[in-house]
Amino acid sequence: MQRDMIHLKAPKGWINDPNGFIYYKGNYHLFYQHFPYAPRWATMHWGHAISEDLVHWEHLDVALFPTKYEDQNGCFSGSAIEEEGRLHLFYTGVHYDKTDPENIHMCLDDAFSSAQLGITSEDGFHFDNFDGKKVIIPAISDEKTGHRTHTRDPKVWRGRDAWYLVLGSSTKDKKGELIFYKSTDLSDWELLSTASTEQPMGWMWECPDYFAVDGGEVLVISPMGVPVEGTKEQNHSICMPVTFEEETGKLQLSECYQYLDYGLDLYAPQSTVDAQGRRVLVAWLRMPMPFAEGRIGMFCIPRLVEVKDGHIYFRVHPNVEQMYQRQITDIVQADPAGYRVSMDLDDGGCVNIGGYRIRREGSRICTDREDVFPACENRENFQMQSSTPELKDGFHLDVYVERNLIEVFVNQGEYVISQGVYGLKWELEADPHTEVELYTLPEA
Ligand code: FRU
Repeated sequence: MQRDMIHLKAPKGWINDPNGFIYYKGNYHLFYQHFPYAPRWATMHWGHAISEDLVHWEHLDVALFPTKYEDQNGCFSGSAIEEEGRLHLFYTGVHYDKTDPENIHMCLDDAFSSAQLGITSEDGFHFDNFDGKKVIIPAISDEKTGHRTHTRDPKVWRGRDAWYLVLGSSTKDKKGELIFYKSTDLSDWELLSTASTEQPMGWMWECPDYFAVDGGEVLVISPMGVPVEGTKEQNHSICMPVTFEEETGKLQLSECYQYLDYGLDLYAPQSTVDAQGRRVLVAWLRMPMPFAEGRIGMFCIPRLVEVKDGHIYFRVHPNVEQMYQRQITDIVQADPAGYRVSMDLDDGGCVNIGGYRIRREGSRICTDREDVFPACENRENFQMQSSTPELKDGFHLDVYVERNLIEVFVNQGEYVISQGVYGLKWELEADPHTEVELYTLPEA
C-alpha cells in the first residue's frame, strides 16, 4: 500500500484536478483526474486516496474509468455528496466525435460532447463502473443553454430544501458561464438558471465551486483565456464573494475578484466540509515536467477558506499546521519531506530558500523562482513582481517548503503565493535584519 504525506501525488503517471472531495464515514476521500499509464494528460480516470486527517494519505485503486458511450473518452472532473449513508459521485463523461488516429487519447477539431453522469457507492470503496453509471444531464443538444462540448465539472451541494448542481460552460458568444440545476432526488435535474459577468472573463469557466462560510458566500471558478502579464498560462483560478438565491437560482457575481493563489500555478481547486464543519480546499499544482520518474503533478496543502470583511482567506489547515512544529536551528536538520520558515519581513527584507527568493518591496511581497524553474517551451520563468497585491495585515510569512512546491502564506492566509520548483537546494539565507524561525515535521 502506497502512502503520501500532506501533498497528495498520484502513485504513478499523471494527476490533475481534485475531484469528489468529501469527509465520508470517518475518512476524507479525495479523487482526482488521473492517467495511470504515463506522466501526461490522456483518457481521464478517477484516481482515489483516503485520509483520516488530511495529513496521511493512502492510495486506493482507480475508482472510475471509461465504460459507457458517454464517458468513452474520459471521466472528467466532478464532485461528491453523501445521502442516507451512500456516496454519490457526479462527473462529466466525454465522448469524442473525431478521435485522433495517431493518439486515441486526443480528439480532432475540438469535436466532442460532454454529458453529466452519476454513480453511487455503499461504502466509498466500491464503484460499479459497468452497471452503476447513470446519465443525469445528457449532452446539450439545442445550444439554447450551454454548450454541447464545453459544459462540465458538476459541483453538487445541499441547499435548504433541495440539491443544487452547477456546471462550468461557455455561451454562444464565447463568454464563460455557469449553469445551475435543482433536484429533490439527486436523479432528476431541472434547469434553474445561468450566470455570467457583464464584462467577459475568459471564454469558458472550468471547475465551479460555490459555498457559504461564516463571513459570506464564495464562488470559485477557473476561467480559460484570461491573459496575465508575465506568464503564458491563460487559465487562472479566481474567487469572489457572491450571493446565490435558491428559489430563483440568481447568482450575484462581483466585479472584483482575487486569485485563488498568487503564484498562478495552482488550478482547478475543489472544496468540501471537514470533520469539524469548516470549509477546506485543495488544488492541483500544474507542473511543466515530471518531478520524479513517471510522476507529474501534485496537490497543495489543504487550506481552510474563511471570509472576513469581504476578503477571502486561505490558511493552512490546522491538521497540517500542527505537523510543522518541531523547531530546528539549521536546515540540515529538516525532514526530507519538508519544513516551514517563518518570519516578519521589513521593507527591503529578503530570504533565499534554496534558490527561491522572496523579498518585500514596500507593501508588496515579491517572489522569484528563476534559479529553480526550467525555462521550457510552454511555461516562462515567472517572477511575481508587480502582480502581488498590496497587503493589509502586516508582513508575516509562513513558507512551507516541499522539494517541488513552495507555499508562501502571507498574514495567515490573507494571500498565498504557491509555485512549483525544481532542483531546490536544502539551504537558507536571509538578509542580516531578517530573523527566521525554522520548523520541521515530527521525528519519525
Ligand atoms: C480542468 C479540466 C476540467 C476537466 C478536466 C479534464 O483542469 O480541464 O475542466 O474536467 O480538467 O481533465
